[in-house]
Amino acid sequence: MYAVILAGGSGTRFWPLSRKRTPKQLMSVFGGRSMLQRTIDRVLPLKPKRILVITNAEQAAATAEQLAYVKGVPLDIIAEPVGRNTAPAIGLAAAVIARHDSQGVMVVLPADHFIADEERFRATLLAAREPAFNGYLVTLGITPDRPETGYGYIEADKAYRGAGPYPVKRFVEKPNLEKALEYLEAGSFYWNSGMFLWRADTILEEMSSHMPELYRELDGLDSGSDIWEIADLKPQIEAIYGRIASESIDYGIMEKSEKVEVLPAEFGWSDVGSWSAMPALLEADTNGNVAMNDTRLIAIDAKGCLVNGSGKLVALVGVSDLAVVNTDDALLVCPLDRAQDVKKVVEELERQG
Ligand code: GDD
Ligand code: MG
Repeated sequence: MYAVILAGGSGTRFWPLSRKRTPKQLMSVFGGRSMLQRTIDRVLPLKPKRILVITNAEQAAATAEQLAYVKGVPLDIIAEPVGRNTAPAIGLAAAVIARHDSQGVMVVLPADHFIADEERFRATLLAAREPAFNGYLVTLGITPDRPETGYGYIEADKAYRGAGPYPVKRFVEKPNLEKALEYLEAGSFYWNSGMFLWRADTILEEMSSHMPELYRELDGLDSGSDIWEIADLKPQIEAIYGRIASESIDYGIMEKSEKVEVLPAEFGWSDVGSWSAMPALLEADTNGNVAMNDTRLIAIDAKGCLVNGSGKLVALVGVSDLAVVNTDDALLVCPLDRAQDVKKVVEELERQG
C-alpha cells in the first residue's frame, strides 16, 4: 500500500493563524504535533511501501522539515509549482506510483483532517484495500448529521451487501442546500470524507476516460527510470502544470465514474473546515468556551466562544459564540456561524495587496 498525502491546501479559513507558508496542515491545531505529522503517524503502523506527500512549492521546505523524523518508510515530497486542485495532485502521484507498481493500491489522505479513533481508522483502510485491489474507486463515507453544502454526497446502494462496501448510485459534489436537505433526509447518503483507496492503474484509466487532457499530460511523464528519483521529474512537472487546468477529483472523476464504492467510516471524523469546527474537537469549560494552545481566558458571562491568544491573556465579557484569534500581527473577531467567511478576509487582503 502506498500512502498519498494531499498537503497543498492554502487554509484560508484559519486566518490569521494559518498563512500561505504555514497552512492548516503545518499548524499544531490540537497542540503538539501538526496535522500533517498526525496524518503521517496515523498511517505509519500500516507500514506503507512508500509515502508520497504532494504539496505546493512554497510549502515544500517547511513540509520536509516537519517530516524529517520519519524513519523506516521511504517518503517523497512532490512539490507542485502551482496548486491545480486535487485531480492533478492525485493523478501525478498515481503516475509516479504506476511507473514502479501499476497495480499498487494507493490510499489518498488529506493532511488536515481530524480522526478520533485511529485503530478503527487503520482497520477501515485495511478493509477497503480488497475492493480497491479489485478495481474499485473506494471512498470512505461519513454518516451525515447536517445539510452541509461544502461536502460531496454519496448515495449508497445498500441492497447489495451487509456492512459495505456498497456500490454507489451517484456522487454529488457540493449540492445546494435544498439538495443537501433532501439527501440528509433520504438516509441512504454518506458524506465523502475525501479519503480514497484505489489502484494506481484504476485511477489513471478513469482519468483517461473522464479527464483525457490531464491523462495525456500524465501519460507523458518519463517512465524510463526504474528508481524513485522524484527530483528528476521537476522540469517535467513544471511543464505539465503550466498546461493543465484546475479541477478537483470529486468533480473530475468521482461524479462521473461508474466504479465508485463507498465504505462507511465510523472512526470519528472532522475535516476541521473552519474555526466553527474547533469547539467540538477541543475541551471546553462549563460555559462551552474553548481556549486553544494554553490561552489564559477570563470569561465573564461569556459562552460558546473559541479563543486563541498566542501568549496574550484574553478576557471576554457578555459575548457568545465568537471566534477571537490573536496572532503577533493580526486579530480576528467573528461569530462562529460566520466562520466560513473568514476566507473573504484573505481574499480582501490579496485584493488590497
Ligand atoms: N497537493 C495539493 N494540491 N493538495 C490540495 C490541492 C492542491 O492543489 N487542493 C486541495 N488540496 C488538499 C487540501 O489541503 C485538502 O487536504 C484536500 O486536498 C481536499 O481539498 P479541499 O480544498 O479541502 O476540498 P473540499 O473541502 O472543498 O472538498 C473535499 O473534501 C470534502 C471533505 O472534507 C471533497 O472531496 C468533498 O467531496 C469532501 O466532502
Ligand atoms: Mg476541505
